Amino acid sequence: MASSSDISLARGAPSLDIVAVDDLRAAAERAFTKDPAGAFSYGTSAGYKPLVSWIADKHGMGDDGVIATNGSMQADAFLFQLLIEPGDLVVVEAPTYDRTLLSLRGLGAEILAIPLDPDGIDVSALEQALEAGARPKLAHVIPNFHNPAGCTLSLDKRRRLVELATAYDFVLFEDDPYVELRFEGEPLPTMLELDEAESVVYASSFSKTVCPGIRVGYLAGPAGLIADCRRVATGTYISPSMVSQSIVAEFCRSGAIDRSIETVKAALHERRDVLCEALGRELPDARFVVPQGGYFLWVDLPEHVNVHVLEALARERGVIFVKGTDFLLEGGESSLRIAYSGVPADQIGEAVTRLAAAYGELDGARA
Ligand SMILES: Cc1ncc(COP(=O)(O)O)c(C=O)c1O
Repeated sequence: MASSSDISLARGAPSLDIVAVDDLRAAAERAFTKDPAGAFSYGTSAGYKPLVSWIADKHGMGDDGVIATNGSMQADAFLFQLLIEPGDLVVVEAPTYDRTLLSLRGLGAEILAIPLDPDGIDVSALEQALEAGARPKLAHVIPNFHNPAGCTLSLDKRRRLVELATAYDFVLFEDDPYVELRFEGEPLPTMLELDEAESVVYASSFSKTVCPGIRVGYLAGPAGLIADCRRVATGTYISPSMVSQSIVAEFCRSGAIDRSIETVKAALHERRDVLCEALGRELPDARFVVPQGGYFLWVDLPEHVNVHVLEALARERGVIFVKGTDFLLEGGESSLRIAYSGVPADQIGEAVTRLAAAYGELDGARA
């Protein structure tokens, strides 16, 4: 049972204090006043036109390259529904976002899990698999501030992945909801930008920069594939929520999105710093890649640690995290994901103290 004094490091969502509630209210007011017909009608499966155009401009493409959906999970679902049949081979990263893994498995895909390095997916391992005859339909890659691993894909690997997708004719699915949340280091080009052969389909979201409750995400990619996704979308829900999308459109076009991103980044930066410092001090056995942005940090503990036991002990002490095993087909038994997005900085030290106490008990029992 969760109690009110529990601290959750489990949810990849922003805490309410960094959601731009006033700017969202003002954006809704403007959207409903300026374009009530657009906001309150069904609309089309492409999405709310002014938002689709804003997204298309951002990616330097025409409106026909974009579909705006109810969260990017919905966009993923349309893409997978179109491309994946039972038995198709799909490349994923190990570890990867648990919901992607679940939906691909639900569709009967064969999963080829390629390990992650501190600079992203092990491209040499993928290349070897391709040379040995693997023929994936699609590769799912999270390039920036990975969920759950926190790492970022290097520029060389981005280039190489695009080349491999083109050479071996698979769709490179670039799942990029955290791209705007870099608080350190230089931004890198997306694989969508590097692609010259229509091999990349790109997804992003307003869940992490505005708020998840608004449920707005999108796909950007080759017009033919996007047209097919729009057909699937029409058959699924006629159109996404025009109310939500009209609010997001106003939020973006007024510049409120830039302020929101700055607020979120500043909070995440502080939370990341507090977390890394506390882990270093209280849990020196923890090994992790320091994220340069985003919401997550992945912790590897010594191999003797059973994360199922650790999770139960931590829960008893009032701290909750997601076990590494949730993000992998196999392995992750000594690892965990910490989301520092949902907890104010002044609670993170206490959360780590509780986690370290749980770890201490586990270690003590072993001794
Ligand atoms: C890698 C990745 N893809 C997709 C999503 C889903 O985002 P949305 O809220 O836009 O559906 C998430 C959310 O955590 C995510 O981490």
